[in-house]
Amino acid sequence: MIAESTAQSSPIPLAVIILAAGQGTRMKSDKHKVLHPIAGKPMLLHLLDTVAALAPSCEIVVVGKGREQVESALAGRTVSTALQADQLGTAHAVGEALPALGDFSGKVLILFGDTPFVAAETLRSMLARLDAPDAPGIVVLTHSPEDAGAYGRVILGGGDRIAKMVEYKDASEAERAVRLCNSGMMALSAEDLRTWLPRIGNDNAAAEYYLPDLIMVAAEEGRVAVAIEGAAIEAIGINSRAELAAAEHHWQQRRRAEMMTAGVTLIDPASVWFAADTIVGRDVMIEPGVFFGRGVIVANGATIRAYSHLEGASIGSGCEVGPYARLRPGAVLEEGAKVGNFVEVKKATLGRGAKANHLTYIGDADIGAKANIGAGTITCNYDGFFKYRTVIGEGAFIGSNSALVAPVTVGAGAIVGAGSVVTKDVEPDSLGVARAEQKGIAGWAKRFRERKSRKIT
Ligand code: UD1
Ligand code: CA
Repeated sequence: MIAESTAQSSPIPLAVIILAAGQGTRMKSDKHKVLHPIAGKPMLLHLLDTVAALAPSCEIVVVGKGREQVESALAGRTVSTALQADQLGTAHAVGEALPALGDFSGKVLILFGDTPFVAAETLRSMLARLDAPDAPGIVVLTHSPEDAGAYGRVILGGGDRIAKMVEYKDASEAERAVRLCNSGMMALSAEDLRTWLPRIGNDNAAAEYYLPDLIMVAAEEGRVAVAIEGAAIEAIGINSRAELAAAEHHWQQRRRAEMMTAGVTLIDPASVWFAADTIVGRDVMIEPGVFFGRGVIVANGATIRAYSHLEGASIGSGCEVGPYARLRPGAVLEEGAKVGNFVEVKKATLGRGAKANHLTYIGDADIGAKANIGAGTITCNYDGFFKYRTVIGEGAFIGSNSALVAPVTVGAGAIVGAGSVVTKDVEPDSLGVARAEQKGIAGWAKRFRERKSRKIT
């Protein structure tokens, strides 16, 4: 299992400002950029969960266009929001957060909602670097991605001191050739931030108030800015669908490796997709092409066979799922239960050792231990208006191609004859058959053929 990092309080009070007011136009989406999911979880929440590990005393998310969407995603969290009505740049956005900061005194981390993968450990090193003997005014998180693309560039001036930060749009050819990039994240004291921020202007290619210009203002005050370099993955900024897919890819690669380290077998790791909250036990075997939506727990020793899609499901130890199974929210498989090919399970419990091996829909149902659900069985749970439950007792046997019209109960140990449409309860240990009785008419087929062949000739 993957352990969450434990919360640790920093000695000096910490405030975190997260910028999320940008329009995200490059995403071409009605959904706010920072709410696009990675591993099924909005990118902003990835970042907030990391931030929580630092136990800040104050968290402010700067919102603008689409603020309602962001605010509803933040419901239930102790995060305040600040409004940046017009998006005039990253420095302007931070300025709009200052009133919410009040008279806070301590360290401030400025993060971007579209840069969700920074590690708590890296943020801690940034904060610690502020306290080093050379007392830098600003600590900037940098990275050296393989493709520096349109990131702002960081020009060093000896050691880790930053001589200049320049936006890609404003950079010269020589500056664009530099690979060290700005992640956007920085740390400084609240006092310095309040003093320096108002001095930033907007005389640049985009006519925006650039946060990186804080470095120049600090320099005018005789204070240095220093760089800390993080892993490239920590600083991935997501502006477009292609970058979103690349971020997803990186996240998945890391989680697959963690899963294998924790004792999960992945035959073809690259084809298995986890959600941020997927929990998988030891000695679970996952075959190729399996997709985990949110809310899945798999206990030790289960097997998830190829091309299965699981969401909101709990899978007990030793269970077998798939190939080609679909488990939807509320599917609970108790120890040793089996769900086979082309079986869909929704809001239903399969007791210990129960089996539904082929071509079945089980919705809104309770299935007792060791019951056997024959091929093609359907629980008819919906009448177009309401949903109803089907209850199948322990050890019951449902013959193939049966339709169980809910609400209905099949007692423990009962047998339902194949092809039945069951509309009434079946008593325990009894046989329930509901289909037209078979007739046999001797010689009929032969006569039929003769009649037809006469018409051809
Ligand atoms: C920014 C940095 C760039 C850095 C890159 C890292 C600036 C000027 N540029 O560029 O140096 O390499 O991030 O990913 O800081 N935002 C607001 N209000 C605004 C503008 C932006 O809240 O008025 C927010 C956005 O929602 C986003 C973040 O700030 O979360 C960064 O803005 P974005 O426009 O994506 O900046 P980049 O061009 O990526
Ligand atoms: Ca960005």
